[in-house]
Amino acid sequence: MTKKVLLIEGDGIGIEIVAQAEKVLKAVNEKDNLGLEFDYGMLGGRAYDQHGHPYPEETKVKAHQSDGILFGALGGPQWDGKTERHLRPEQGLLDIRSDLGLFANFRPATAFPQLVDAAPLKPELVSGLDILIIRELTGGIYFGQPRGIRTNDQGEREGFNTDVYSESEIRRIGHVAFQAAQKRDKRVCSIDKANVLDVTVLWREIMEEVAKDYPDVELSHMYVDNAAMQLVINPKQFDVIVTGNLFGDILSDEASMVTGSIGMLPSASLNEKSAGFYEPCHGSAPDIAGQNVANPLATIMSAAMMLQYSLNAPESAQKITQAVNIVLDKGLRTRDIQSEGCTIVSCSEMGEAVVEALNTL
Ligand code: NAD
Ligand code: IPM
Ligand code: MN
Repeated sequence: MTKKVLLIEGDGIGIEIVAQAEKVLKAVNEKDNLGLEFDYGMLGGRAYDQHGHPYPEETKVKAHQSDGILFGALGGPQWDGKTERHLRPEQGLLDIRSDLGLFANFRPATAFPQLVDAAPLKPELVSGLDILIIRELTGGIYFGQPRGIRTNDQGEREGFNTDVYSESEIRRIGHVAFQAAQKRDKRVCSIDKANVLDVTVLWREIMEEVAKDYPDVELSHMYVDNAAMQLVINPKQFDVIVTGNLFGDILSDEASMVTGSIGMLPSASLNEKSAGFYEPCHGSAPDIAGQNVANPLATIMSAAMMLQYSLNAPESAQKITQAVNIVLDKGLRTRDIQSEGCTIVSCSEMGEAVVEALNTL
């Protein structure tokens, strides 16, 4: 049976990195006879330029018909402050997440042994590290109403957002986290700001309630400010982290540093029914876009996650991970993960090296 994969480049380095992941996906499709069919869609700034909307109708239709969606990154200074908020590139990403109901965002931060030297933290803090950040993706302050910029009684403008989570939204992401922990080291750390924010007082209470269904999993709580510090001084204490939309966004970029580079952090956004959405955690990196130097591995590993979670091809996913390891063993590195004695390769050379390694498996 054929499976439909939608590839979306986005903007900036999105174009370069998705091209590499596409090569890898096509190679594994042929090798393992997966019957994948590829289609293409647009999202973000270039989509707005071409279609007048960052999440064009055409992409929406294709997204709903796909079995898996692989995305690069979007945004860039050329669109900043140029359009109303609902037409900003970033809004396209929020729209597709919301439209597909992708409430559970998995961001695994794993330290590759070959890259321990590339991480800014001491090797002993990093080696063997394996954290799964589960970020709630369709609620919280990103989507809460009311929001906007208004004029107050003093005639001054003020900006405001609303951080809101319903019990059911907290409960469903809680279940996802506990179930993920059951397959790992059976520890969930819920990160909140319950000493200040009411929304997270409820978050903490519901997490405690959900924990009762999982007596084999240990639940702990941590305030987000402390968590930001603990990720740097003792990251290995964490197994599964579950947190809201905003804290998850920030903490996952921080966690990427223990892996060596933001270019190494893949992600999967899931719900119970529609196609999964797979993307690197980083942005469109306008500072290096178009130079063929970006690290495509987060995108390639996101493609592996797609094979595993949405396309029922866990063995092919495993092969991609193996191929990435072979390439790193050979000492090939993009600029962001360079260390002494290694060979610096371009974005496309990295993609080709992964395909080559894949073909030896
Ligand atoms: P960014 O993640 O794009 O870049 C931060 C830094 O990391 C830059 O120095 C960049 O060169 C580097 N970097 C990122 N990905 C890399 C890769 N694969 N290989 C090597 N280096 C890499 O974050 P930013 O600069 O804050 O944002 C730039 C634009 O991207 C903004 O418009 C922002 O809104 C957007 N953004 C999009 C997403 C997304 O599409 N999911 C995520 C974050 C930011
Ligand atoms: C991410 C990004 C997005 C987010 C932006 C671009 C909307 O930072 O995917 O991590 O904040 O979720
Ligand atoms: Mn982010």
